[in-house]
Amino acid sequence: MKKEKIRIAVIGLGYVGLPLAVEFGKILPTVGFDISSKRVSELNKGIDKTLEVESKDLMSSKYLKCTHKLEDIKNCNFYIIAVPTPIDKYKNPDLKPLIGASKTVAQVLSKGDIVVYESTVYPGATEEECVPILEKDSDLVFNKDFYCGFSPERINPGDKVHTLTTIKKITSGSTPKSAKKIDELYKKIIKAGTHLASSIKVAEAAKVIENSQRDINIAFVNELALIFDRMGIDTIEVLEAAGTKWNFLPFRPGLVGGHCIGVDPYYLTHKAEEIGYHPEVILAGRRINDNMGMFVANKVAKLMIKKGQMIKNSKVLILGITFKENCPDIRNSRVIDIIKEMEEFGCKIYVYDPWADKNEVKEEYGVKLLPKLQGKYNAVISAVSHDEFKKVKIGDLLNGDKSVVYDVKNILNINKIDGRL
Ligand SMILES: NC(=O)c1ccc[n+]([C@@H]2O[C@H](COP(=O)([O-])OP(=O)(O)OC[C@H]3O[C@@H](n4cnc5c(N)ncnc54)[C@H](O)[C@@H]3O)[C@@H](O)[C@H]2O)c1
Repeated sequence: MKKEKIRIAVIGLGYVGLPLAVEFGKILPTVGFDISSKRVSELNKGIDKTLEVESKDLMSSKYLKCTHKLEDIKNCNFYIIAVPTPIDKYKNPDLKPLIGASKTVAQVLSKGDIVVYESTVYPGATEEECVPILEKDSDLVFNKDFYCGFSPERINPGDKVHTLTTIKKITSGSTPKSAKKIDELYKKIIKAGTHLASSIKVAEAAKVIENSQRDINIAFVNELALIFDRMGIDTIEVLEAAGTKWNFLPFRPGLVGGHCIGVDPYYLTHKAEEIGYHPEVILAGRRINDNMGMFVANKVAKLMIKKGQMIKNSKVLILGITFKENCPDIRNSRVIDIIKEMEEFGCKIYVYDPWADKNEVKEEYGVKLLPKLQGKYNAVISAVSHDEFKKVKIGDLLNGDKSVVYDVKNILNINKIDGRL
């Protein structure tokens, strides 16, 4: 490594990139780069709409500069890429943002530089997909002129306890020397310490299996919920009883959305299929989890019929549309599956979510959010466990005894519910 002084560029200032840029910006010259000029201008005013970084922390990151101009990252020598890795409509990895970010970095890459990827990918993606772009567009040679690394992020949006600096971080590098340098850099900001993996592929695989494991564990309890529903047994009561055994894992049934748990397993299965192995457990888990919204909608419709309600034109209130609790992120929310299915039954759907941005929800899902919680409904469904919903007097929202209350998240403040997962 020729350049001595580290000058960091973080490419992609979202849920992952921004906290990272802010932490590095406290101790080292750091440029936060994002293609969205709107995002950059909000950040420069101290506004983070993901709510991951508070305004005072953003403004007090003294060596951080946010930009959308390529020339501002030209003099950096340590590039960290944290752009989205979604799936396309066929559930295949969509590497366009990652390829775009690699092309950006390739334009400014110099001898001795290091490029670390943080975006979740399948094992092999960094070296097979990203490195060739970096080489081609920079005319530099991998592991001779520049080096790469992979350091996955483990933050959990909305979680104020497990944050960037308090979660142990996996690091890796393309050569022993670059791996050490990358590890040392992260150690400067990660209080919980680092785990230096033996290779980039090991680090990539570790991240993707963490989320796949969670997906499969939830799929198992979701499957139990489907079985016990047919038997008239309350799944939560079963899980509470089983949970008294020391090694029973405390997972709960629910919708599995977001851009990590519901997406990352497809990165792993894509790679598995490419190399001739057809994954069974992982894909079965995905199918079960993807169908839970439809199950909830059907269950609510059956409960309404049982109570003697007309389904067509009935008013159904859904509490929550973000993909998880106490977080404004609406990406890949599976609440939309409940909405669509209930609309197909002819119900009128009303959605209330104090965390979600009404314009984003309209744009992404075509759903108009209620400005406040009011009115009487034939059914109320808790879809997301925002803290606010725990205090709502559900009884005030019901249209008499025939109204159905379905508590997907098991949080509602009411004596009697008609069903839960
Ligand atoms: N959000 C999480 O909790 C979380 C946790 C762990 C890992 N991850 C992974 O981290 C990666 C980033 O996720 P995120 O949630 O931060 O995404 P995000 O959508 O919040 O942010 C990504 C940012 O990258 C920008 N961007 C997109 N393409 C770009 C490009 N070519 N050049 C520069 N900027 C670009 C976007 O404008 C956006 O601001 C993904 O791979 C994700 O799976 C996310």
